[in-house]
Amino acid sequence: MNEYDEKYDQVGYYWGVKPSPACFDVLKMMPPDHHVKLLVIGCGEGRNAVFFARNGYDVTAFDLSPMGVEKTRALAERASTVVDVFRANVNEYRLSEDFDVLFSTGVLHYLPEDLRAEIFENYKRFTRPDGLNVFSVFVEKPFVARAPDWEATAHSWVSGELFTYYRDWRMEYCTEEIFDCMSSGIPHQHAVNRMIARKIEVSEQSP
Ligand SMILES: C[S@@+](CC[C@H](N)C(=O)[O-])C[C@H]1O[C@@H](n2cnc3c(N)ncnc32)[C@H](O)[C@@H]1O
Repeated sequence: MNEYDEKYDQVGYYWGVKPSPACFDVLKMMPPDHHVKLLVIGCGEGRNAVFFARNGYDVTAFDLSPMGVEKTRALAERASTVVDVFRANVNEYRLSEDFDVLFSTGVLHYLPEDLRAEIFENYKRFTRPDGLNVFSVFVEKPFVARAPDWEATAHSWVSGELFTYYRDWRMEYCTEEIFDCMSSGIPHQHAVNRMIARKIEVSEQSP
């Protein structure tokens, strides 16, 4: 049982069932008024994947935690909808079919630095023209202490690094924020980069 299996092994939902605010951006920017194929990378217990499925998206999702996969499936069933969910490791899994939207919150810090360029190339290649990559990642800041539940499998990211992988796409939105978190029961903060990039190729900006 991995660390997240232990957190998810309860009747309730560790991360709750309310979708991340970024889900509403997807709803506005790529409404499901046509067939929209969406992948949730690291779906946890399914709050975002199920939100998208309930709203008419064709949703595929994966997570490393078998318990997370099971709870995603159960949450979808409870909502009378379907998510094609399976167990996979973000470091090993590569896309081989196209999606309109790739979505991930709170997971990309598991990517080691040496895999990032190749993995984002794969994600970009298998995003359809005009499609969206909607991602957030925790970043290091000298004035934000490491979270008390920071895991050995997590890796650090430099502020702004995520955006550099998308310098040839149109950046619809990007921010850096500090937010309060109570995971592990100990109050702490995270610095996070959030972005929505659209596959409309633009000339590369110099670094
Ligand atoms: C902070 S939680 C976020 C869950 C979900 N994205 C959400 O917002 O509710 C991080 C998730 O990443 C998953 N995870 C950790 N390492 C992973 C890996 N190598 N590959 C895929 N998922 C991983 C964990 O099982 C956990 O569900």
